Amino acid sequence: MFPVIITALLLPAFAVAVPTRQVDHALTPISNWGDNPTNLELLAYFPKPMPAKPAVILALHACSLSGQQYSEENNYTAYADERGFIALFPSTKNDGNCWDVASNKSLTHNGGGDSLGLVNMIKWAISEHNADPAKIFVTGSSSGCMMTNVMGGTYPDVFAASSCYSGFPAGCLAGAPASSPGSGDPACGSGKAHKTGPEWAKVVRDMYPGYNGTYPPTNIWHGTADDLVGYGNLAETLKQWSAVMGVPFTRNITDSPELGYTKIVYGDGTQLVGYSAVGVGHTVPCNVEVDLKWFGL
Ligand SMILES: *[C@@H]1O[C@H](CO)[C@@H](O)[C@H](O)[C@H]1NC(C)=O
Ligand SMILES: *[C@@H]1O[C@H](CO)[C@@H](O)[C@H](O)[C@H]1NC(C)=O
Ligand SMILES: *[C@@H]1O[C@H](CO)[C@@H](O)[C@H](O)[C@H]1NC(C)=O
Ligand SMILES: *[C@@H]1O[C@H](CO)[C@@H](O)[C@H](O)[C@H]1NC(C)=O
Repeated sequence: MFPVIITALLLPAFAVAVPTRQVDHALTPISNWGDNPTNLELLAYFPKPMPAKPAVILALHACSLSGQQYSEENNYTAYADERGFIALFPSTKNDGNCWDVASNKSLTHNGGGDSLGLVNMIKWAISEHNADPAKIFVTGSSSGCMMTNVMGGTYPDVFAASSCYSGFPAGCLAGAPASSPGSGDPACGSGKAHKTGPEWAKVVRDMYPGYNGTYPPTNIWHGTADDLVGYGNLAETLKQWSAVMGVPFTRNITDSPELGYTKIVYGDGTQLVGYSAVGVGHTVPCNVEVDLKWFGL
């Protein structure tokens, strides 16, 4: 009897002592962040409280989705408050809401296109909100992952690290008329576009000719049961960054970070890691915890 009474007495008091905290995770529409040749849109989330020198995560949606939807699918905004970063959720309404990962403009450093509109969002966050230029990150799913790889190739000097879910190698669609599943080269989508490591690396290096610096450390996630963007893309994308960074495959760690996932480690594991998710389809759910650790946040 005694414990029951105590529980009954404590419950209301507990409810009063810990009221549900209403956290406002509304996104702020931003315009005029700089040159925006492809009419992208931007929603920003500013952490509460705002650090003096926040990090920035650029989070890129899949085809047919929007930045608003991507923010609702993943809890980056909750983590933004906890870890103190600005989350940027851009949207494209071109080509079935797919990011341009095909045009020469978008695949070229300062060439214009989507990559320029996106990097200008970062420059705006640095100049207007005192973001830390050493803590700029990019992530995305499906088309957003393909674009993440493009951002790593076109602006390797801007991004400190990246993470990428269920996409394909940087520049796989180079020269295709457009980037949507209907308009792009189907070999890329199916994961049957094979190149050697050095060939894939050249595709990346051609995006920023003359660049001598390092490329952002990256996590590449893909599900073995992906029937939209073929699983073969995991191996091709890892081959690409392995050659660009000069880090060879080291070892596999099974059931990491969860049961059924294999962590594929390159070098000492600080520059390139793949995650193969057994039985997972399109797209692999974002593991924000693992990514934030990867980003050092
Ligand atoms: C985000 O979501 C994951 C999965 O539901 C959860 O484990 C984690 O606690 C959440 N984090 C925050 C900061 O809300
Ligand atoms: C873009 O086009 C120029 C001129 O044809 C070419 O030199 C360059 O390699 C192309 N860039 C990419 C990334 O394909
Ligand atoms: C590459 O290095 C050379 C020599 O240090 C330098 O002049 C040039 O500006 C660098 N190029 C880029 C794109 O950083
Ligand atoms: C490492 O894991 C990947 C994904 O499961 C697999 O394709 C590859 O063959 C494995 N490599 C070795 C050496 O076991």
